[in-house]
Amino acid sequence: MTDYKLLAAQIKSLAEDEPNFIPVMSNASALLYENMEDLNWAGFYLMDKGSLMLGPFQGKVACIRIEVGKGVCGTAVAEDKTQLVKDVHQFPGHIACDSASNSEIVVPIHKDGKVVAVLDIDSPSLGRFDDADKEGLETFVRTLEEVIEI
Ligand code: SME
Repeated sequence: MTDYKLLAAQIKSLAEDEPNFIPVMSNASALLYENMEDLNWAGFYLMDKGSLMLGPFQGKVACIRIEVGKGVCGTAVAEDKTQLVKDVHQFPGHIACDSASNSEIVVPIHKDGKVVAVLDIDSPSLGRFDDADKEGLETFVRTLEEVIEI
């Protein structure tokens, strides 16, 4: 099981030197991708001009823009709610950036009460993420929200 509390402490420490969202999100995606098993993508989409735009990530080339309400990421923004998807092929409107993805978790990131970005993590395995991952990643994102300048 991933030690999400340790990862949160690590990103907090990394952000102390430079809180700008580019290095913080870049290092956050690297931390998650290196320390979580069985992933094929980990990264961020940022709200920009009313839609989600690709941000720092680890993994294969991904789609650049996602409309609010579309796909797993856009649904996380529209509902302001973590999306834990055990089988992406059963999720209406799922956007397949990497055909290797079979399960996914997306956590909204806030500033001043508004969703400004999402954390998106994909796995090639069905049902890779459970409630413990959801809780752990939400803790990680709460820490990120405290330390990041975005
Ligand atoms: N699958 C996502 C799109 C982003 S990629 O997974 C990196 C979605 O449906 O929103």
